[in-house]
Amino acid sequence: MKGNLIMKADIADIKLAAGGKKRILWADNDMPVLRSIRERFEKQKPLAGKNVSACLHVTAETANLARTLKAAGANLVLCGSNPLSTQDDVSASLVKDFGIPVFAICGEDRKTYYKHIHAALDHKPVITFDDGADLVNELHSSRAAEAGRVIASMEETTTGVIRLRALDKAGKLKFPVVAVNDAASKHLFDNRYGTGQSTVDGIIRATDFLMAGSKIVVAGYGWCGRGFAMRCKGMGAIVIVTEIDPIKAIEASMDGFDVMPMSQAAKIGDLFVTLTGNKSVLRGEHFAVMKDRAVVANSGHFNVEIDIPALAKLSKKINKGVRNHVDEYVLKNGHRVYLLAEGRLINLAAAEGHPASVMDMSFATQALAAEYVVKNADSLTASVYNVPVDIENIVCTLKLKSMGIDIDKLTSEQVHYLADFGEGT
Ligand SMILES: NC(=O)c1ccc[n+]([C@@H]2O[C@H](COP(=O)([O-])OP(=O)(O)OC[C@H]3O[C@@H](n4cnc5c(N)ncnc54)[C@H](O)[C@@H]3O)[C@@H](O)[C@H]2O)c1
Repeated sequence: MKGNLIMKADIADIKLAAGGKKRILWADNDMPVLRSIRERFEKQKPLAGKNVSACLHVTAETANLARTLKAAGANLVLCGSNPLSTQDDVSASLVKDFGIPVFAICGEDRKTYYKHIHAALDHKPVITFDDGADLVNELHSSRAAEAGRVIASMEETTTGVIRLRALDKAGKLKFPVVAVNDAASKHLFDNRYGTGQSTVDGIIRATDFLMAGSKIVVAGYGWCGRGFAMRCKGMGAIVIVTEIDPIKAIEASMDGFDVMPMSQAAKIGDLFVTLTGNKSVLRGEHFAVMKDRAVVANSGHFNVEIDIPALAKLSKKINKGVRNHVDEYVLKNGHRVYLLAEGRLINLAAAEGHPASVMDMSFATQALAAEYVVKNADSLTASVYNVPVDIENIVCTLKLKSMGIDIDKLTSEQVHYLADFGEGT
């Protein structure tokens, strides 16, 4: 796929900028915490002169993070972190209205996706942002010689953090990384409420599926799975959870869900959604026993959670695009299975991703983490760092303030009581 080359950018169509700008400014209304950080960064310029490359889903919310990093003085370049999640109007506006180079086109093929990642690396970044660790991966493989330049990288999602911790454990991590996903100010809200709601949104937009009374199978009861299951239940669905972790399985059961292996769930589900960060969670043996017109979708990071080659192998015919984002697989047993968004993140491919109000906290955490790594560059070593608790507290305090919610403060007597082992006896 070929885009228009504009000011060292590669986007679908610059003429989409006006619509993109409206959406960016609309999202900004719901991002008061990030906005307040942007206003401070404007004055203090904590990233002054730093080359920064960000590989993130190019959405209206990400655009507001990009504006914040630019306000901080960064020379920023953005590329997409998924071939189907780019909002082309947003990238057009970033280029035209905000002067931020973007390399991302919705629907780009694998070759273009990597060409764009390399364009972001040609920018010679000293700070990087990832959603899934694809930039960092290139900096440890095809472009390993350039890793020494990097002060630190921020990682947005669970799958990226898992990859990076594996690299660290193997002693191969070449620069410091901040696990932004693992901050409470991120995953407690973003993964649970953001993915929860937007996954429902993506499925409904793609299929017009009726939640009430449907049997929905949720694979994975982690942060994203819990949020999605909770929302499906609230909409009247009969929710079944599959897990491999005994603790999460008990939790799901006590939260009121049916828990069973996928081999059983496969026979009864109307809709199957994978949110595990694992591969081949839905396999040939499962498709083979599904009901006619079962719908399968994924909201985990990579498109490997549903074994699509196995689905294709079981099919006598594949009808692509029977509806936008819906491919019909006609199995040899005559049953039809509908695969949504080619097994890629359904909430970003078919809907708009997480609501801005929740991304406010994630991206405020990202922005403050970037400031932190620059300030502490001399003391950081090549390992995976948690976001400092102070940053999480700042983000949550600012968010509460923006929501108009006050909370209690410890009295001095309570401070003493909690600090003293002898108290309470
Ligand atoms: N769609 C989005 O916008 C979005 C947002 C955030 C995270 N993510 C991605 O979603 C995935 C899940 O993230 P999370 O934060 O919920 O992770 P998590 O670690 O909290 O939860 C994953 C759960 O899946 C379970 N699991 C693993 N293999 C399984 C299997 N074969 N069958 C059933 N359950 C299995 C694990 O035991 C765990 O409970 C990751 O890939 C993450 O990067 C997507």
